[in-house]
Order: sequence, then structure tokens, then C-alpha cells
Amino acid sequence: MAGTSLDGVDAVIVDSACKKILASHFLPYPKELKNQLKNLAKNSQTNLKTIAELDITVARIFAKAANQLLQRAKIDAKNIQAIGSHGQTIYHQGGNYSWQIGHGALISELTGITTVADFRMPDIAAGGQGAPLTPKYHQYLLAGKDGVFVNLGGIANITIVKNSTVCGFDTGPANTLLDNWIAAKKQLDYDENGLWAGRGSVDDVLLKALLADDYFAQNPPKSTGTEYFNLRWLEAYLTAEQSDIAVQRTLLELSAVSISSHIPTGSDVYLCGGGVHNLLLVERLKSQNPNSKITTTAALNADPDFVEAAAFAYFAQQTLAAKPSNLPEVTGAKSTRILGAIYAK
Ligand SMILES: Nc1ncnc2c1ncn2[C@@H]1O[C@H](COP(=O)(O)OP(=O)(O)O)[C@@H](O)[C@H]1O
Ligand SMILES: [Mg+2]
Repeated sequence: MAGTSLDGVDAVIVDSACKKILASHFLPYPKELKNQLKNLAKNSQTNLKTIAELDITVARIFAKAANQLLQRAKIDAKNIQAIGSHGQTIYHQGGNYSWQIGHGALISELTGITTVADFRMPDIAAGGQGAPLTPKYHQYLLAGKDGVFVNLGGIANITIVKNSTVCGFDTGPANTLLDNWIAAKKQLDYDENGLWAGRGSVDDVLLKALLADDYFAQNPPKSTGTEYFNLRWLEAYLTAEQSDIAVQRTLLELSAVSISSHIPTGSDVYLCGGGVHNLLLVERLKSQNPNSKITTTAALNADPDFVEAAAFAYFAQQTLAAKPSNLPEVTGAKSTRILGAIYAK
């Protein structure tokens, strides 16, 4: 799995039920690749050669992550049923088109393992957003219980399971604006533990203006990406008076408020994704939901940094068993679909 934060590849080996993470490995993207992918998100004008080269580079890194994981876990490739590879999203227009690179044929070739890739397009072809897909896995992890999952990746997505019904959608930004702002102002990849933001104060006028964006009020099904929530989007709201640090703090509040507005009171909330390490973001989520119990997915024995990766192992297993993985009530697709393309070994 690789998400919109463009930090790198999360790889896991799971048990045959796809519930227990047996081994995990994070392989960061090289700086140059991260910059190339960032430029692509910033400026979608590019050429086919560049995309083809990136497709190969990303596939090689995914395969490397898988091979390193196997080596470290001392598990032979022949004991692995399949790889479920989400790939790296370079373009997402929910309901229209969603493009992940890191092609499955090369991953399969370089690992010797059957690879399932390109999970989103079957849902989109059926009229869905193609996202979020993980609610089905979140429901599976809850095993019949009610609960709320919030994945704090570049973009945040929420899954609300109540009485066996599932609602899920992207709430908006989690880390992407925070990461991009601190990168622009301090040349850092992210705000370690939310410390920089913690030294600033929320600019209430700016926060109100940002929250007035149409995306936050739209009814689900909905999904979004970094081609929408990026510094260009933010700059339209900025004035000369706001300090850099106040903007960082306000962006953190934007993530916390836009997520919290969808958390039903009294929920059991399980956080996952890299944002669980942003102590201030977690603190703000807790204080905005005083009647809910906010923990991480570790409470369900699922490492919060690797839940989303485990979800794609589960989806690959579903696909190989000719079973669907999308939830039409979440994505808006006409009906369920078997997701992904299989590159068999
Ligand atoms: N110690 C930390 N402090 C603050 N933020 C962190 C920390 N560790 C990770 N993050 C955030 O988590 C992000 C990565 O989260 P991840 O779940 O991998 O997102 P994605 O799925 O979009 O790749 C980083 O870009 C960063 O914003
Ligand atoms: Mg990531």
C-alpha cells in the first residue's frame, strides 16, 4: 500500500484469515521519486514517457518492499498466496477515473508471486467513487460489533459501522495539507508529533473560511485527493496577516473538525494511518469527541500503521475467490464488483 502522503510503501504478510499481521515493513520512497510524484500532483501536465518510467519505478519499489519483507520474515515466496497491490495513486476523480501506477505484471515478475492490482476501476466502471474501499475490511475487523474507523493518511476516510450497516467516505484532508505546508515553509516532510503546529494558535477566520468549502458539506458517496486538497487550494484563502505557524495550527484544526463532525456521539473510534503519531491531531480529536472512546486499531490487534495494507491483502484474497470487495452503499456503485486485475504466476 502507498497512500497520498507519498511517504513510501507499507508491506505486510497476513495470516490466511487476513486478520493477523505476521510481519510488516515500511520502505520509504527515495527523495527524487517523492519529488517527481509531488510534481505530478501539483501539475498534471506531463508526458507519457514520464508516466511510463514512474510506473516502472514504483512497481520496482513495491516488489523490493515485498522481497525485503519476505527476507526479514524468513518466509519463502512460495508460501504466499498472492500480493494485493494498491499501487500509487497519481490521479483520482471519484466516479470518473482513478489511476494507480506500479504495474502488477512487473511486481508479479520480480517477486514470483501472483499479484492483484488495479482495485478501484471496476467500482468506478460500475458508477462508484472507486473509494474508499477499506470500509469492507474495517467491517470485517469489527466482526459484528459497532465501531468507527478513521484512517489518518494524506486524506482522511471514515467508516461508521452500526447495526451491520456501513457508511464510509473521505472526510477531506488529514495530513496532506500539514505535510505540504511544513515542506514549503521549513523543508520538512512532516510536523513531527504536531509540535510545530502546537506552538501556533488557530486563526478562527481562516478556519471558518476553509470549512466553508463545498466538499465538506457534500453528502456521501464522496471521495477526494491531493489534486483537490493541495497548497493551490489553500493559497486562495490566505492573506499576508497569517503567520506560517498559525496556518499550520489552523490546518490541523481543519482536519480535526472536518473529521469530528462525522463521528457519532458515544462511538468506539479506532484511529489508523500515520496521523496517529501526530499527538496534537489525536488530542484535538479526543477533545472534540468527549463522549466517544478514541483509541487506535491496536485495540483490535491491528497495527495502525499497517491496517490499510492488510486490507489490500484481504481484497486480493477476495478477488482470487471471485468475491467482491466494494460496498455499493459506500462507493455508490450500482452493485458489488470483483475488484482488481490478476497477474498470475
Ligand atoms: N511522528 C509523526 N508526527 C506527525 N505526523 C506523522 C508522524 N509519523 C507519520 N506522520 C504522518 O503520517 C503520514 C503518513 O501516513 P500514511 O498513513 O502513510 O498516509 P498515506 O496512506 O497517505 O501514505 C506522514 O506523511 C505524516 O504526515
Ligand atoms: Mg503512507
